[in-house]
Amino acid sequence: MRLTAEAAATATADSASSEDITRSVVTAAASSRDERLREVMPALIRHLHDFAREVRLQPGELFAASQFFTECGQISDHARHEFLLLSDTLGLTMVVDTESAAVAPGAFESSVLGPFYRAGAPEVPSGANLSRRGQLDGQPLHFSGRVLDLAGHPVSGAAVDIWGTDATGRYENVDPDQPDMNLRGRVSTGPDGTFDVWSVKPVSYPVPADGPAGRLLYQMDRHNMRPAHVHVIVSAPGYRTVVSELFTDDDPYLSSDAVFGVKSSLIVHYDQVFDESAAERAGVRSPFWSLTYEFLLTPGATTPVAFSAGPGPATA
Ligand code: BEZ
Ligand code: FE
Repeated sequence: MRLTAEAAATATADSASSEDITRSVVTAAASSRDERLREVMPALIRHLHDFAREVRLQPGELFAASQFFTECGQISDHARHEFLLLSDTLGLTMVVDTESAAVAPGAFESSVLGPFYRAGAPEVPSGANLSRRGQLDGQPLHFSGRVLDLAGHPVSGAAVDIWGTDATGRYENVDPDQPDMNLRGRVSTGPDGTFDVWSVKPVSYPVPADGPAGRLLYQMDRHNMRPAHVHVIVSAPGYRTVVSELFTDDDPYLSSDAVFGVKSSLIVHYDQVFDESAAERAGVRSPFWSLTYEFLLTPGATTPVAFSAGPGPATA
């Protein structure tokens, strides 16, 4: 049916503009009974719609995005968290971290948890070695430190949860060649706030690139490397739990971390120690590496860690 010029003009005037659609959807979202949803959803909708207008999003691109998210879901399981990886590589995790976890200068700062954290790491005594495979795991490292309050008083009984990769850059839960919980452990601080464990010197390693999040990195001409780091969660009653990592100061990827987790206060130096008798006492090779760090905790409530991966098949 052909419209007269007058009818066509009326039809156009009656058609909703994309801004009208945004207003309708925002209005619909604003009546949610859940208070937080009432706050979050209208803003999310506004930003999503503005984004579509800004980049002139095409129907085919919207469909491709839908396929991308489907793939993110399909590759995810209890040990593989593709949406979290996507959030990490797009910097969203660190934006949320930075907006929500500001601390006083000098206090221990947070960084990304990453998808390889496992709750329930073995509790180990001071001086224990987290490496179960000796040389196969990497170069020996003595990791010691103190947990203190902001005034410099020792925090006794703080839990220091430590995990890292072996020398090939793989976590035990995605590597069938490593024993369960290899290179993971929880040590408690003594009355003077000190702790020490043995492990291996961290190496830089790639975040998983065999799924949609990694593919997107390559499509954006970005690399998927993380600078060498050891993960640490420090918690103690009466203090904010800090999920973080310590980065090796001479790593070539320090300024281009694939997940933007580096903060200057988290960059550390490793010393090489040539002490045969200390190495022999610890049952490691000489020379070994030494790292020491003071963790200053912020008063507040302890919080549970957001999520935990499990043991799993090799997917990384
Ligand atoms: C990690 O350091 O374990 C990690 C963090 C973010 C994405 C992938 C891996
Ligand atoms: Fe890591």
